[in-house]
Amino acid sequence: MHLGAYNAHIDHLTSEWRRLMDKNGFDAAAIYAGQNQTFFGDDQEPPFHAYGHFLRWVPQSDCEHAVVVVRMDEQPVLLWHTPSDYWYLPSDAPDFAKDAFDVQTFADLGELRRSLDQLIHTCSNVAHVGKTLASTSPTANSSRNDRLVRQLDYQRAYKTEFEQLCMKDATALGVLGHQAAARAFSEGESEYQIHHAFLRASSQHEAELPYPSIVAMNTHAATLHYQKYDREPAPEICSLLIDAGAKSHCYHSDITRTYAANGNEEFAELIDAVDHAQRGIIEVITIGKSYLDLHEEMSQKISEILTSLRFLTCSPATAYESMLVDAFFPHGLGHLLGLQTHDVGGRIVEESGREVPPHNRYESLRLLRSIEPNMIFTIEPGIYFIPSLLDQWRGHQDVNWTKVDRFTKYGGVRVEDNVFVSPDGPVNLTRNAFSDASVGA
Ligand code: GLY
Ligand code: MN
Ligand code: MN
Repeated sequence: MHLGAYNAHIDHLTSEWRRLMDKNGFDAAAIYAGQNQTFFGDDQEPPFHAYGHFLRWVPQSDCEHAVVVVRMDEQPVLLWHTPSDYWYLPSDAPDFAKDAFDVQTFADLGELRRSLDQLIHTCSNVAHVGKTLASTSPTANSSRNDRLVRQLDYQRAYKTEFEQLCMKDATALGVLGHQAAARAFSEGESEYQIHHAFLRASSQHEAELPYPSIVAMNTHAATLHYQKYDREPAPEICSLLIDAGAKSHCYHSDITRTYAANGNEEFAELIDAVDHAQRGIIEVITIGKSYLDLHEEMSQKISEILTSLRFLTCSPATAYESMLVDAFFPHGLGHLLGLQTHDVGGRIVEESGREVPPHNRYESLRLLRSIEPNMIFTIEPGIYFIPSLLDQWRGHQDVNWTKVDRFTKYGGVRVEDNVFVSPDGPVNLTRNAFSDASVGA
């Protein structure tokens, strides 16, 4: 735990929240970790995922039912639930929170709720951020409450020093996993075995992953969020796309690498081209530029790759303007990253909380803001051979169908790094972690 940076992070959050609460007419805010739900008709639960705004205050995943209360003058209060339980091991309030909060621990949930009601009883306007546990509901303040949450979502894009450190650690852990996965692939292991190599090297169990790892060999890489793990390697191994990350103090990394199996130099050439274009787009990141412009530039670079490697026979400009390129690159260039893999606030373009709708052409582009210092986002271009998308262009004269159809066996390429925007420009956390681990990215 980076304790000094964490305490400074809490000071920053306290003043940021008070400023936004005041602006929206609130004198207190209750922030809820949330509670789990059982599966339908069952007594079992999925792994608990706490609400991001709570985790930003208290980055500890075992925090069900906990509440943070922020008021204008008093120290923030952390109400913590530690039941007496012999079915599951309860968690104590984290030590790192003890200086930053007035920590109050309850064995009984009813007691916790009563204390929460008492705490906020003396405040006249309470914002409820998350699913409320208090007996008062936020209905009366709902539009102000919603606006406050959008403004808080907007601010989550700017990472404090503590958050930057956690995300650097999460990236380093993810890189350890990727290195082990690459070794397992070169040794002929199956998707299932590669998945386990990643877990072991990044020291995670499945429920701790930031998102289910995508371990896709051959045609499986054409399913963008492929979710199965074949137990046996395919008879002919052509490629591997692995999109897998790690967490550190609840902050995520999100990393993708693609590999060609030996003897598939034509696919290695395509990976190199995407890798080169990905590095190139990171180099032109500047403060104030819009992320949408970056996506469009990448779409043009992908058009150039497709024409120069003769997948397409038209000009790059035609591939871009006719939207043929979108069949090969059907997702956004990237997204904000933080306490969620697809972090909140990507389409909230102003501090006021104004949200814009998805882009007409690039509906799945999750980030439409301008690039500002202290943001962390992914840059993840790809080229895929997805039968259902290619079928919409089947027979089109600008496509070299012989080559495109031959490449369907590789599924596709994605190269994904995590980029921190320092005041001096972009810092590639992922490539830096690969270099620190002394292995080429
Ligand atoms: N791992 C999901 C994504 O890259 O967005
Ligand atoms: Mn990813
Ligand atoms: Mn991503």
